[in-house]
Amino acid sequence: MRPILEILALAPVIPVIVIERLEDAAPLADALCDGGLTVLEVTLRTPAGLDAIAAMKAARPDAVVGAGTVNRPALLDAAAAAGADFIVAPGLTEALAHGARGHGLPFLPGVATAGDILRGLELDLTTFKFFPAETSGGVPAIKALEGPFPDLAFCPTGGVTLANAPSYLALSSVRCVGGSWITPKAALDRRDWDFVRTTAAEASRLPR
Ligand code: 3PG
Repeated sequence: MRPILEILALAPVIPVIVIERLEDAAPLADALCDGGLTVLEVTLRTPAGLDAIAAMKAARPDAVVGAGTVNRPALLDAAAAAGADFIVAPGLTEALAHGARGHGLPFLPGVATAGDILRGLELDLTTFKFFPAETSGGVPAIKALEGPFPDLAFCPTGGVTLANAPSYLALSSVRCVGGSWITPKAALDRRDWDFVRTTAAEASRLPR
């Protein structure tokens, strides 16, 4: 199993993808990977999500494709069966942490408070999605958490944009950010792969 920290090191941005049509999976993965973003989070919010994971991996063997919005153990089992390379959850529960470990899958759970982090540490987790980033205090909140928790790694997600991503990426604990701005619904609806490729290329050049 590739540690979650290694996956977060692969690109400065993880696109958070909500896919409606399975047939879009391959061209979307192509656009993102060609743009330089090879770590993809496919949310399991739509019926196409699970099958899209396998379709993206088949289309792009260079992509690392995770399942997002994994909010219950049954969904984690389904994501593992679909071939997900890692698991993203909006929050942290013991059942999800144990489930991911049981499947041998890297796990990126959401945290927003010191209490969440303490529970994560008790489960031997040190790498977290900081979620929802902007409404949970954004950059100042992460800076404050770096005091008592100097050795953690975060992927802030939720309200992150091309404009505010640099201020997150400048923090020593932030390895990458996540966001849906690279794959907005309007662009996916009109199958605008050029838009996605261009936006991904812009995001892939963000310094960190
Ligand atoms: C998520 O689904 O993980 C986040 O809601 C993505 O947040 P964003 O749409 O604000 O980027």
